[in-house]
Amino acid sequence: MTRSTILGVGSYTPSKVVTNDDLAKLMTTSDEWIHKRTGIKERRYIEHDDIGASDLAIPASKAAMEHAGVEPGDIDAIIFATLSPDYTFPGSGCLLGDKLGMPGVPALDVRNQCSGFLYGLSVTDAWIRAGMYKNVLLVGSEVHSTGIEFADRGRDVTVLFGDGAGAAVLGRSKDDDHGLLSIALHADGTGARDLCIDAPGSRYMPRMTHDMLDDGRHYPKMKGKQVFRWAIDKMPEVAHEVLDKAGLGIKDVDLFVPHQANMRINQLVAWRLELDEEKVVHNIEKYGNTTAATIPMALDKAFKEDLIKKGANVLFAAFGAGFTWAGAVMRF
Ligand SMILES: CC(C)(COP(=O)(O)OP(=O)(O)OC[C@H]1O[C@@H](n2cnc3c(N)ncnc32)[C@H](O)[C@@H]1OP(=O)(O)O)[C@@H](O)C(=O)NCCC(=O)NCCS
Repeated sequence: MTRSTILGVGSYTPSKVVTNDDLAKLMTTSDEWIHKRTGIKERRYIEHDDIGASDLAIPASKAAMEHAGVEPGDIDAIIFATLSPDYTFPGSGCLLGDKLGMPGVPALDVRNQCSGFLYGLSVTDAWIRAGMYKNVLLVGSEVHSTGIEFADRGRDVTVLFGDGAGAAVLGRSKDDDHGLLSIALHADGTGARDLCIDAPGSRYMPRMTHDMLDDGRHYPKMKGKQVFRWAIDKMPEVAHEVLDKAGLGIKDVDLFVPHQANMRINQLVAWRLELDEEKVVHNIEKYGNTTAATIPMALDKAFKEDLIKKGANVLFAAFGAGFTWAGAVMRF
């Protein structure tokens, strides 16, 4: 079976820069607290309302298609990973297909938070290997800034997140030595309530009340230390799993593109993997955590900085809400 591969990547971030000092004007926090614990200096927010995840995905998708040398008419399917869809339903993939002028092209939304891009990559790979679709547009896009709380109650979560989009076009690899060599997905719902938005939810009748709004149940809630501990265990574990599956070792990794949740998490993961920190791509200092968009955004940065040479083995790993985690190895 032909392997799938990334033919092109692109990214887009809105122009509004929000620094740690800007947030310190709205809640009790400081540049020192945020930067020391997370590595984040600033993040981007949408410039005004009425910009959804599908809107940020448009320029990212166009850039990925241009990089891949394909037109919208060449795309056979869209996979859209997001936890901040434009609407509760339908999925943002349908909106993106419409905005890119792709009537009739199937669109699947993936709801796997920070692991969403890698979960989407796995589906994309299966479709391409099975010969079901030739070219798939895989997107990760988030608008967090309209869904976080700018007050002390939400500060632990709010300072972490930013808006942004990344996209990749996947197609058939030219040979079996290149492309996606291995991928692994995992989930453990025992951690579901450690990082979640509780309401509106289908188990509440009605799904949202004034009391729930007053209690801030529509904002993300997180047990930060718990998430941190799981991430630094599961990301190295899944990295070893996919390297073993691909018949590779740590020494064969040319570049590591991890999910960007926290610089300290990624430094610890690299240390546990005994991977040279220079091989780790990060952009969290400028963009914060953009959830499903972090991996394609960081990959785009790596391409632009010419860090991905012909034949490079690139390792990916992500961990996030669910809990879900995933890893992959691709040879370019
Ligand atoms: C969120 C995180 C940075 C917090 O760091 P931490 O080292 O656990 O926090 P600390 O224990 O040092 O500090 C907690 C204290 O800071 C306070 N605090 C929380 N957010 C704050 C903020 N933005 N500014 C200032 N103080 C803050 C807390 O109220 C707490 O105060 P207390 O000790 O008086 O109760 C860290 O837990 C983390 O990164 N976790 C993983 C989060 C993640 O990756 N989420 C996305 C998943 S993909």
